[in-house]
Amino acid sequence: MKAIRYTAFGGTEVIELADVEKPAITNPTDVLVRVKATAVNPLDMKIRSGMAQRIYPVQPPFIPGLEAAGIVEAVGDAVTQVKVGDAVMASAMGGTYAEYALFKEAAVSPKPERINFLEAASLVVSLGTAWSILVKVGEMKAGQRLLIQGAGGAVGGILVQMAKALGVYVIGTASGKGIDALKALGADEVIDYKSQDFAQLVSDVDLVADLVGGDVQARSFGCLKNGGRLVSITMPPSQELAQQHGVSASFVSSDLSRQGLQFGLDLLAKGKLKPIIAHTFKLEEAAQAQAMVSAGGVNGKVVLEVG
Ligand SMILES: NC(=O)c1ccc[n+]([C@@H]2O[C@H](COP(=O)([O-])OP(=O)(O)OC[C@H]3O[C@@H](n4cnc5c(N)ncnc54)[C@H](OP(=O)(O)O)[C@@H]3O)[C@@H](O)[C@H]2O)c1
Repeated sequence: MKAIRYTAFGGTEVIELADVEKPAITNPTDVLVRVKATAVNPLDMKIRSGMAQRIYPVQPPFIPGLEAAGIVEAVGDAVTQVKVGDAVMASAMGGTYAEYALFKEAAVSPKPERINFLEAASLVVSLGTAWSILVKVGEMKAGQRLLIQGAGGAVGGILVQMAKALGVYVIGTASGKGIDALKALGADEVIDYKSQDFAQLVSDVDLVADLVGGDVQARSFGCLKNGGRLVSITMPPSQELAQQHGVSASFVSSDLSRQGLQFGLDLLAKGKLKPIIAHTFKLEEAAQAQAMVSAGGVNGKVVLEVG
């Protein structure tokens, strides 16, 4: 089968299109999918560069990719929730930039008919991440106030929609055309992080969703009300700062299971949430696709059309 892979860590120059062996079912809970579309995540580049080795160690040759949509080709003996021929969307720790990829049954959801394969692939990580931040860990309720740092990106666009559907008051930071994009998604306030200082403009929020990290994360503590919560998907927050501000803070690892996607898929079915595709590339253009995401200024998901 055709797959994108690299045999050494590095920049986009290590990315190659190769002919590799099709993966085979080896575990009773495996689901083999004929991939129609996959999508680019910032973690793909962190793994490719070698900088994520401490958290997500991989051994090149490695086929990147964390999310995909396609048709079930084969299933292990213990699989009961999906069958051969089903249209699905799924997550895995690598392997989706390929014509076929293996997934665990628990990470496979039926693809809703109202979205196509490109849209489905674009949603897996973002739906599971937004739900993990907002509901599973953030426990947000209607009327509460949320500050999203990095709201203009792929996760941010889905998080804004999910929060608005929950009745949450949303303040988002973004730049460039991301400002109008966020307003169109229903954000109540949008701050241009390149020309405005959020720390001067935001106070008393119940939850900060940190999609940026670094100094932005550290300075966001001051925006929380007493007893509020900061959740980060980029780096573990300082417990010392949390204590100083009288708030709680935690790192969130996204729940990308079928259960983790269900809340977002229900909103999609009700027409309260839509996929946001910024750009579509062919599988063989994976290097360009990754470079586009790394360059920034992309509002939504960059997807790869596979078959
Ligand atoms: N823990 C987990 O399970 C998990 C899951 C998913 C994602 N993540 C991580 O979460 C982060 C976001 O993911 P993503 O897919 O949404 O990435 P993305 O699409 O690249 O979006 C990142 C966004 O951050 C914005 N940004 C950069 N600097 C900023 C600043 N100082 N203030 C406000 N916004 C700023 C960018 O805006 P401009 O382009 O306008 O500069 C961009 O819109 C990545 O680091 C990713 O690895 C973690």
